[in-house]
Amino acid sequence: MKVANKWTLSGAWRGLVISSVTLLLAGPAMADDIDDRVTALLADMTVEQKAGQMTQVTLATLFDRSVKGPIAIDPEKLREALQTYGVGSILNTGSRSLTVKEWHAVIKTIQDEALQAEPAIPVIYGIDAIHGVTYTVGSTLFPHNIGMAATRSPELVHRIAGVTAMETRASGIRWNFDPVLDVGRNPLWSRFEETFGEDSYLAGILGSQAIRGYEKDDLGDITAVASCMKHYVGYSDPANGKDRTPAYIPDVELWEHHLPPFEAAVAAGSSTIMINSASINGEPVHGSKKLLSDILRGRFGFDGVIVSDWEDVIRLHTRHKVAETPREAVRQSIEAGLDMSMVPNDYSFAIHLVSLVRDGLISEARLDESVRRILRLKFELGLFDNPYAEPEAVENFGRLEYSDVALEAARQSVTLLENRGEVLPLDATARVLVAGPAVRNRGALHGSWSYTWQGSNEAAYPDDTASLADAFLARSGDDRVTVMGVPEFGAPENVDSEALLALADKADAIVLALGEPAYAESPGALDDLWLPEAQRDLAEAAIATGKPVIIVLLEGRPRVLGDIADDAAAILQAYRPGSRGAQAITEIIYGDVNPSGILPYSYPQYTGDITPYNRRVLANVQRLSVGGKITYDGYKPQWPFGHGLSYTDFVISDLRLDKDVLVGNDTLQVSVTVANDGKRAGDKVVELYISDLYASLTPSHHKLRGFERVSLAPGEKRAITFALTADDLSFVDASLQRVTEPGRFRVAVGSEAIEFEYVNNLDGEVR
Ligand code: BGC
Ligand code: BGC
Repeated sequence: MKVANKWTLSGAWRGLVISSVTLLLAGPAMADDIDDRVTALLADMTVEQKAGQMTQVTLATLFDRSVKGPIAIDPEKLREALQTYGVGSILNTGSRSLTVKEWHAVIKTIQDEALQAEPAIPVIYGIDAIHGVTYTVGSTLFPHNIGMAATRSPELVHRIAGVTAMETRASGIRWNFDPVLDVGRNPLWSRFEETFGEDSYLAGILGSQAIRGYEKDDLGDITAVASCMKHYVGYSDPANGKDRTPAYIPDVELWEHHLPPFEAAVAAGSSTIMINSASINGEPVHGSKKLLSDILRGRFGFDGVIVSDWEDVIRLHTRHKVAETPREAVRQSIEAGLDMSMVPNDYSFAIHLVSLVRDGLISEARLDESVRRILRLKFELGLFDNPYAEPEAVENFGRLEYSDVALEAARQSVTLLENRGEVLPLDATARVLVAGPAVRNRGALHGSWSYTWQGSNEAAYPDDTASLADAFLARSGDDRVTVMGVPEFGAPENVDSEALLALADKADAIVLALGEPAYAESPGALDDLWLPEAQRDLAEAAIATGKPVIIVLLEGRPRVLGDIADDAAAILQAYRPGSRGAQAITEIIYGDVNPSGILPYSYPQYTGDITPYNRRVLANVQRLSVGGKITYDGYKPQWPFGHGLSYTDFVISDLRLDKDVLVGNDTLQVSVTVANDGKRAGDKVVELYISDLYASLTPSHHKLRGFERVSLAPGEKRAITFALTADDLSFVDASLQRVTEPGRFRVAVGSEAIEFEYVNNLDGEVR
């Protein structure tokens, strides 16, 4: 592989070196140092060049369309992008993944051209490496966030982000549009799998770990990439469930559920943020000064780069209809606080921006603010020192151990939802019929952003990525395993009940791989949360044989199961478990691995009842239509948030508090013992919930405020301690302040619960 060791200075570049020679030759960039270099550079830039830096185009804009097959960049188009418009950033791939070598060539071609300009400013290349490096051939793909949230392992999330950063940087790319911090509170939404589930506390903790894994302590490090928190904010809860459609979110809910992960991620140090394409309460977020400037910059103190999502500036005009012209759309987004526009197909943004400055509608100083942030990021990433793929970084691509990390993550994510009569683990000698639409389909194991955008191109998966059928055959052999199914998820033969019945006779157990094919963004739109009827019929037919039926769900969002949830012997939720997912599933089914994942969302039982676990307590009230009786069982998911079974028995006992009254800013120590009373070693995720018993706004039933994964051998027990502060007891009140009101609280771990009192100070006085 040919990699540039040291880039050569072009004429224009040399000019810059001469004007700021000491700065450029200085060692690792320090903050002050960078500010000076940015200031020097800004002083040399025209308005056009500044508008260019704020422009991001997609790679395909540069393609030579007459060349079929290999990625061919048209030199004329490249020159136009980088010399005429001076674009600051390029993103995406063509329609496929590139090899590391191809990426290096693409990056080299781009940077060579960028360095011809004067002043010479390297391009920052951005990519969606959502659960591993989506667009580099041979990368490792991990479980999607929804599965990672089931592991409740911040450490694993951190490790995976670390690997993803290394493989991205090895590809010559230094900006990753991840993590997704949207809170998955609407399971209809097609990007649910990209979220860490319905709880903002969990999303904040895991998202922050992802950011640290991406950025390390220094963006200049060859193992780091810039992260991008997205999609700020409220994207995940569209009223009709469709991608990029209006959300109606009261401020109090926005502050309680949607903003906290972003606030946590800003504190974790994420360098960039991407904006929600849609609108909240009628206001497009891309035009919202309140959300971008007042809250994000003002209250959260974010000073990194704000980038738009795909085409979303112009869409203020074309879709949202809040700007009468494309130019007005540009003005509104800049006024709101945007730094960079993912245009991404043309240079209209830059052209309009320049004209707005010329006409005095936007000040050049306003452009300087944004360009300063963009240039600072480029300096921090070391792009001014070497804009090409770094040879030492390349060595971090495709290490064998990454695949082990993917396997470990899948093992910890898979969630055992039902295990009636302890049908699992299966005996190694059992004769198994393995069927269903996902049995040979690798897209269903991976979901979106898997070698292609949609993840649905079976041909794009590496040959050594096992399907579930492959994994069963490898584990148990073809004398015990019969497979029914073809790779195409939607093929009618995959749900042919008669064919299934004909094969079922010889089987001791039937494993059905059901769920969803891969999809990303709007192509995954859903009108109906039911698992498709053909799949339910197949399951009913299998169940009717009287043989134990084990359902493996490969789905990006919970699909309503109906009767089969009650009738199947066992149900495993595998989410989108990634490259090694099939192996992890079979290991769990045969008991080589004890399942330990727990649900990061409330699995709905009915399509008309989507109630998150941390609902306000009033949602518990039910008036039964017959007899008008009131009950308090309004939260009735198929399986609750936090549910997940094991092959061993864990017992939680001895819940204790170190005091009955928590005062002011003190810490309350909560201890509990968890014991493995069963016969197998296993991991248990211990979760702590708090409930505010009375508050000025109807309180949540309970909220997750602590969790820990522990590994226990049979007979082993361990004490766990959690520390709670007033902050953990807080909620967002009617004036949108996060407050902790004095009064009684309940802390619960497992089925144990204790009440305590919170007071502001020892006199019980209210502040
Ligand atoms: C998605 C973003 C993504 C961007 C670039 C958009 O359509 O919403 O999540 O980062 O495209 O691919
Ligand atoms: C996606 C991009 C994708 C493009 C294809 C966008 O909405 O975010 O990642 O490549 O559509 O048209």
